[in-house]
Amino acid sequence: MTNRRNWSEVDSYFARTLIGSDPALEATLAANAAARLPSIDVSAPQGKLIHLLARMAGARKALEIGTLGGYSTIWLARALPDDGRLITLEVSARHADVARRNVAHAGLESRVEIRTGAALTTLPEIEAEGLGPFDFVFIDPDKTNNTAYLEWALRLSRLGTTIVVDNVVREGEVADPASRDPDVVGVRRMFELMARDPRLSATAIQTVGAKGWDGFALAVVI
Ligand SMILES: C[S@@+](CC[C@H](N)C(=O)[O-])C[C@H]1O[C@@H](n2cnc3c(N)ncnc32)[C@H](O)[C@@H]1O
Repeated sequence: MTNRRNWSEVDSYFARTLIGSDPALEATLAANAAARLPSIDVSAPQGKLIHLLARMAGARKALEIGTLGGYSTIWLARALPDDGRLITLEVSARHADVARRNVAHAGLESRVEIRTGAALTTLPEIEAEGLGPFDFVFIDPDKTNNTAYLEWALRLSRLGTTIVVDNVVREGEVADPASRDPDVVGVRRMFELMARDPRLSATAIQTVGAKGWDGFALAVVI
């Protein structure tokens, strides 16, 4: 049971057993495929992990960077109370349009605001509008700017804010200091900041599954 096909089978088993049929999420993946969005959303067990982490954190206000078609957005928004708020940032207007339809179909549009534009442009706007601090931040856009996204997450945080960063293992390449892959370099710089910033207590967890070998960084603002 060591190859990628088996990892996917185990993910399917967990999804069947612990998550079950979810018409809104299934419709989201179908709409994303129909719109030819890349299939780089979190898996169902990973989406539920994000959801559970936000619930464990008692999150009311959440920020997501990297919406794609809104699959993780829906998982995260469902973790918030009825009067909770999720702001999610997406650079592609096409992705954001698909996500808006998916979020509305899931009945979550009152809780979710999708902002279009490069996150390094929209994050300062969010700060200027006084929309923080956020209780939970999920970082999942391009990886090259990961350090800047983590810095923004900190600026928009309070004591106790949970920060989750996706795709930090990159098939193991994160451990290669000689890697020139800009995504790997971006992730490694982000880890250096996580390690040295006294406001953060952090760890990282490797995952295998339908999305291959990757992982999440988890941090709390202390
Ligand atoms: C990995 S996908 C997000 C997947 C989504 N979180 C999910 O699991 O369903 C990354 C998304 O970030 C967006 N993105 C890339 N660079 C960005 C930037 N500078 N600002 C905002 N979004 C960006 C991409 O267009 C893409 O839709």
